Amino acid sequence: MGIQDLLLLLDLRRLLLFTSAVLLLIYFLNKKDPPNFPPGPLSLPILGNVFNIESQQPHIYLTKLADVYGNVFCIRLGRHKTVFVSGWKMVKEAIVTQADNFVERPYSPMVTRIYSGNSAGLFFSNGTVWRRQRRFAMAKLRTFGRAESSMEQRICEESCYLQEAMERKRGEPFDPVPLLNYAVANIICQIVFGRRFDYSDRNFQGMLKNLTEVAYLEGSVWALLYDSFPSLMKHLPGPHNGIFSNSKCLEASIRVEVERHKLDLDPSNPRDYIDAFLIEKRRRNGELGFDDENLVLCCLDLFLAGSETTSKTLQWGLIYLINNRHIQDKVHAEIDAVIGPTSQPRMANKPNLPYTDAVIHEIQRMGNIVPLNGLRMAAKDTTLGGYFIPKVLPLKPAVT
Ligand code: HEM
Repeated sequence: MGIQDLLLLLDLRRLLLFTSAVLLLIYFLNKKDPPNFPPGPLSLPILGNVFNIESQQPHIYLTKLADVYGNVFCIRLGRHKTVFVSGWKMVKEAIVTQADNFVERPYSPMVTRIYSGNSAGLFFSNGTVWRRQRRFAMAKLRTFGRAESSMEQRICEESCYLQEAMERKRGEPFDPVPLLNYAVANIICQIVFGRRFDYSDRNFQGMLKNLTEVAYLEGSVWALLYDSFPSLMKHLPGPHNGIFSNSKCLEASIRVEVERHKLDLDPSNPRDYIDAFLIEKRRRNGELGFDDENLVLCCLDLFLAGSETTSKTLQWGLIYLINNRHIQDKVHAEIDAVIGPTSQPRMANKPNLPYTDAVIHEIQRMGNIVPLNGLRMAAKDTTLGGYFIPKVLPLKPAVT
C-alpha cells in the first residue's frame, strides 16, 4: 500500500467515524417512541417541527395536522415531544373525563424565568399549592364578583364610562380596542385592587399595553421557541425578550398595589382579592403559596387570564354583529322589548333574553380566542383516543 492509499484510508475512516457519530446523535435525539404512541409528521434532528409552525397562526398548522393524523397527534418541539389534542370531544375526554391524568403543568423554562423563585402563581403551579390557590381564587372571585355584591353595579357603572368614552368620539371612526381593554381590565382591577382607573391614566394605559404584549407573545411561536431552545434563546435578541421585560413591569405595578393595601388592611373587612390574600397569608404563616411573591404572581395571572380573553371576546362580538346586521337588529329588538331602550341590563334579565344569550354563546364558540391551551402533562401512563401517552418525567421538580 502506497502512502497515498494510506492517507485515503485514514480520511475514509474519519469520514465513517463522523457519519456514525452523526447517525448516533440523530438516533439518540429521535429516540424511538413507545408502541402505539400518537403519530405525527417527520421532524428534523435537534430542531424538531418548530419551523413547520406558521409563526402568525400556529393553530392553523396544528389543525391541518389533525386532519391528517387524527385528533391525537404528536409533534417535536426541539428535543421534546408534545402531544396535541384537537376537537371538543377529545379535548373533553382529556381535560374533563381524564382530568386527574392531565391536571399537571409541565416544566417550562419561559415560565420559570418569568416566575423566578419558588412561586408559580395560579396558572403554572401544581399539586397542593395549585389546588389550594385555585380554590381560594375561585372563592374570592365569587365573593368580590358576585351579582349580589356591588360588582354588578360596578360593571354597570363601567359600561357607562365606556359609553361616555365612545360618545366623546362624536361618530368619527375610532379604534374600540383600547377602550374595551380599559373597561374589562377595570372590572378585574375592582376585584383584585378594589378600585378602577381613569381611561386617561398613563400608568394604567402602560400596564394594559404590557399585558396585551405578554398575552400575545406567550401565545406566539416565540414562546414555543424559547421553551424548545432556552439556552440559545436567552442570549438572542428578539420579540421573546418582551415576555420577560413586560412581565417585570407588570409585577412592579402589582407590587405597588400590594404595598398600598398593607398600609390600611383591616382584617375584619377585606375589600378585594389582595386584602383577602394578605389575611390568608397571616392565617397560614406564608404556607401553601400564601406569600408576598406568590400574591403578585396570582394577581398577574388573574389579569392575564381575565382581561385579554374577555376583551377579545367583546371584539369578536363587535365584528360578528357588524357583519351580521340582521342578527344585530334582532338582538337590539329583544333588548328594547325586555329591558327598554334606556335602562341598563342586569343578570336578572338573562332568562328573558334567550336570543341575545344564544348570540353571546355563538360569539364565544366562533371567536376562537384561546386556540392553544396551556400545556398539561401526563401524571401517569395513560391511553387517549386509543393511543398510549407515557407518564412525563419532570425535567425539573415542579413547584408544588
Ligand atoms: C371569555 C373569557 C375567558 C376565556 C375564553 C377563558 C379561557 C380559559 C382557558 C382556555 C383556560 C385554560 C384552562 C386549562 O388549562 O385547561 C383558562 C384558565 C384560567 N382562567 Fe380563564 N377564560 C376567560 C375568562 C377568565 C376570567 C374573567 C378570569 C378571572 C378573572 C379567568 C381566570 C382564569 C384562571 C385563573 C385560569 C387558570 C386556571 C388553572 O390553571 O387552574 N378567566 N381560561
